[in-house]
Amino acid sequence: MSASLIQTPLWQELRRHKESLQPGSLRDLVFADAARLDHCQIACSGLRLNFALNFVTPKTIELLAKLAMQQKLDEERARMFRGEKINTTENRAVLHTALRQKSNQPVLVDGHDVIPEIRATRRRMAQFANDVREGRWLGATGKPVKHIVNIGVGGSDLGPRLAVRALTSFAKGPAVHFVANADAFELLSLIEKLDPAETLFIVVSKTFTTQETLLNAQTARRWLSGKLGEPAVAKHFVAVSANRKEVEKFGMTGDHLFPIWDWVGGRYSLWSAAGLSIMLAIGPDHFDKMCDGAAAMDDHFRTEPFTRNAPALLALLGIWNRNFLETTAQAILPYTERLRDLPRYLQQLEMESNGKSVARYGSALDYATAPVIFGDCGTVGQHSFHQCLHQGSDIVPADFIGIVEDDLNQPDHHRALNANMIAQAGALAFGRPQASKPQDVYPGNRPANLILLDRLDPFHFGLLIALYEHKVFAQGAIWNINSFDQPGVELGKQMARALEAGKPAPADKEAVFLAHLYDAALKK
Ligand code: F6P
Repeated sequence: MSASLIQTPLWQELRRHKESLQPGSLRDLVFADAARLDHCQIACSGLRLNFALNFVTPKTIELLAKLAMQQKLDEERARMFRGEKINTTENRAVLHTALRQKSNQPVLVDGHDVIPEIRATRRRMAQFANDVREGRWLGATGKPVKHIVNIGVGGSDLGPRLAVRALTSFAKGPAVHFVANADAFELLSLIEKLDPAETLFIVVSKTFTTQETLLNAQTARRWLSGKLGEPAVAKHFVAVSANRKEVEKFGMTGDHLFPIWDWVGGRYSLWSAAGLSIMLAIGPDHFDKMCDGAAAMDDHFRTEPFTRNAPALLALLGIWNRNFLETTAQAILPYTERLRDLPRYLQQLEMESNGKSVARYGSALDYATAPVIFGDCGTVGQHSFHQCLHQGSDIVPADFIGIVEDDLNQPDHHRALNANMIAQAGALAFGRPQASKPQDVYPGNRPANLILLDRLDPFHFGLLIALYEHKVFAQGAIWNINSFDQPGVELGKQMARALEAGKPAPADKEAVFLAHLYDAALKK
């Protein structure tokens, strides 16, 4: 497949199709079709995607589904599930789906079945989680663990952080905290409230070379050994990593190290031992249910035709908005406090996966890829950035994520939350084109998806996360990019290391300039 996707007759047809629709409004499209609500809704095991408020007709969906076929999404999907090395730049398989596979059907990487080691690691995690949760894992002074501190960043933080908050009503274990930033404030302001004798640190880093994580781990270690003595470290630290050598240097070995594998991408890793803090919070049975939800979405993604396939449609609608309606951003608006971290999680998932300008094999792309992802919880976002969504000069498509039944909420609050969610989507779509003064005009025509979970429990949470994982995968496949590497994060890391080390080579003009800039900006 070449990078000249936009030259294909189908892409041109989609363009012409958009032009044929554009004189009309989203309001016209919605009211022209009495059955729109029926054919614009897809259900998958307790998750519904309703895309009626998009600037699309059945013809648009048909053409977009053809685009997915033209770009061989079906073949790429089969390659991913089979364990082929679709992460071409790093020569790695991409097998987060194997982590939640329910059957024992072998999944081969280099001729080696990965399922037995996944199962063995899951059993070790469960044993460890039960020991901690039931007070059998004791700290250096013989006290059980009351606080877990997950030290990690990016994929080693955002997914577990999101899950623990989302599933807070299932969290009957020790309190789980997260520390990610190189700014020590996050760690120090947490540990000052903790008793080291009751605290267990989980250092999560696939590479075990990530600066933030190592800085935080070392600071935590100094704090703990300062309070309880160096030998106590062994009882209060465990690691999750693919880099055994570096973990051992830190002093964690044997049953204090949980493996992850190079075929699990960091931002797809919450189903692996990187999700240990989730299991500690909610317990192994609920963790399994979360994986079952993801497995149900895997089956749906693998088997449904693209016109009725929730992740594929979410991807295609995103491509329609980005490449044909030329939108540049995407709002993520969860209408529940428990999914407050979803926008940040999806920022990494979407922007680190698909924020790229070269094709899989290195040719330059001549079309736009990942939009800027941002968002916040409804209803609080309504009182800050929604003004811009409704009347700003850019059209920003929005995903509204809601819960149908919520035992944790007060009925009147829950009704208000969901009424606001639907009203916001409606106001964005329909607007109010006529008003007595210009300031009161709402242009409308702003597309939205509604994603509804029957409940917010581990199973439905798993469905939701796998929905977005496959959306991102499908977009990458259609855009012909590798969604599983992140070379764009390296340059800044190298420059920071050079600055920290000081003394740039005189021939390295940029390094010399940055050293001067550092001094000018930061020296007292
Ligand atoms: O710098 C980006 C990144 O590599 C992410 O892709 C990853 O999730 C994060 O850093 C953390 O990496 P690690 O788990 O190796 O510490």
